Amino acid sequence: MMVEIRSLQSLSCLAVLFTGGALTAATHGTSRHPRTVHGELQRRNDSSTLTLATVTNGATWSGWKGVEKIFSFGASYTDTLFDPTKAQPNDTYPLGNPFTNSSTPPYHTFTNGPNWIQYLTTKYNESLIHTYNMALSGAVVNTTAIGQNQPIDLIHQISDRFIPNYVRQNPAGWNASNSLFALFFGNNEVDRTWKQQDARINVAVFESYLGQLDKLYELGARNFVLHTVPPIDRAPGKVPADRRLEANVVNDFNYRIKELFKAFTSAHEDISALLFDLSGLCSQIISNPATFPQTANLKNTTGLCEAYKSKEVPSIDYKDPSCEYAVDEYFWLNELHPTYPVHEAHAAQLALALAYNV
Ligand SMILES: *[C@@H]1O[C@H](CO)[C@@H](O)[C@H](O)[C@H]1NC(C)=O
Ligand SMILES: *[C@@H]1O[C@H](CO)[C@@H](O)[C@H](O)[C@H]1NC(C)=O
Ligand SMILES: *[C@@H]1O[C@H](CO)[C@@H](O)[C@H](O)[C@H]1NC(C)=O
Ligand SMILES: *[C@@H]1O[C@H](CO)[C@@H](O)[C@H](O)[C@H]1NC(C)=O
Ligand SMILES: *[C@@H]1O[C@H](CO)[C@@H](O)[C@H](O)[C@H]1NC(C)=O
Ligand SMILES: *[C@@H]1O[C@H](CO)[C@@H](O)[C@H](O)[C@H]1NC(C)=O
Ligand SMILES: *[C@@H]1O[C@H](CO)[C@@H](O)[C@H](O)[C@H]1NC(C)=O
Repeated sequence: MMVEIRSLQSLSCLAVLFTGGALTAATHGTSRHPRTVHGELQRRNDSSTLTLATVTNGATWSGWKGVEKIFSFGASYTDTLFDPTKAQPNDTYPLGNPFTNSSTPPYHTFTNGPNWIQYLTTKYNESLIHTYNMALSGAVVNTTAIGQNQPIDLIHQISDRFIPNYVRQNPAGWNASNSLFALFFGNNEVDRTWKQQDARINVAVFESYLGQLDKLYELGARNFVLHTVPPIDRAPGKVPADRRLEANVVNDFNYRIKELFKAFTSAHEDISALLFDLSGLCSQIISNPATFPQTANLKNTTGLCEAYKSKEVPSIDYKDPSCEYAVDEYFWLNELHPTYPVHEAHAAQLALALAYNV
């Protein structure tokens, strides 16, 4: 097994404020990868610097071009309202029901357009992919761990959506080497818990996260993508003092997901995995949207326009008279969700990372 760990200095520096130290392992993870020379990563492609860590095992990874099935788990950033008991993905509708026309509403997403999993499946793919999207809006890893009780968490997405429909039966025809399991959680954990400033919450969340990754492994999953949580502390509508408190929790989550990645990948010799730095991607876009072609037309990366967040917008590039810019010229659609150009940059960079870094 080959392992690469990279890290973002800024991310780890901030995490220390909240976690109280012990970051040496996170900032200088062990690297046994042949592509690592003198402690520096020898990049195959300079465009995919958003890979924080990878583990590659040739036996289970057929390359990005070899992916035929994606199983995605997550919350509103990922949700496409897929019902796994209804019409399954096929070559005409690669994400199955409900049938989406990405240029006309309803989009069945929370981006006012396509979201990252749709772009990844249908635009930045290098093969014909069928995506089985287990994600549900509002989900967290484990609702009990954050003191709530909504049955839409990762635990439920695996036990009630994935297992009955794709393990007890296998209409997707997935196996260890033709499938990719993409998980993206954290926004709702941060959003619902930052005011408490209680590091024990993330400790409990990550215990469950590891348990659920192990469960997917036991069920036969071998190829994984994990995500850092984006800087939702920089979303509109917060006072600076609150931003600092929320940033503590964002950075703690992102410190812990690197630790989770190391723990999970070192416990299993036969997996391939990539930790994608969505946090870094979003920070780069907020600072300079021209960094990525998909976001080059963004005009406002810090604010939002009320008219766009409060109702269904008639088209992906609609301009309301009360707003300074068109909906797709804002980074933020509302206080928690970016607009679709951000999702497109996410998909494009993730595809690059999958093609060149794993
Ligand atoms: C790196 O990615 C860029 C952007 O997609 C692409 O144009 C270029 O060919 C890639 N370079 C290599 C060496 O694969
Ligand atoms: C794909 O699924 C839709 C909805 O179930 C169906 O109408 C269509 O015929 C299918 N297409 C193919 C190529 O199987
Ligand atoms: C999607 O909507 C556009 C604009 O209304 C239309 O031109 C196109 O044919 C539609 N595509 C599908 C697959 O329905
Ligand atoms: C990518 O996905 C789209 C939509 O399913 C498909 O039409 C296209 O052929 C795929 N690209 C490749 C290279 O397979
Ligand atoms: C997995 O399925 C693909 C077809 O999708 C097949 O080519 C491959 O041999 C299968 N691998 C295993 C280990 O069964
Ligand atoms: C969910 O979190 C609760 C509280 O931390 C914990 O007792 C429980 O074991 C967790 N469930 C799973 C499946 O991880
Ligand atoms: C972005 O939009 C917000 C809300 O309308 C506004 O307060 C801010 O000045 C705008 N920033 C730029 C750079 O246009």
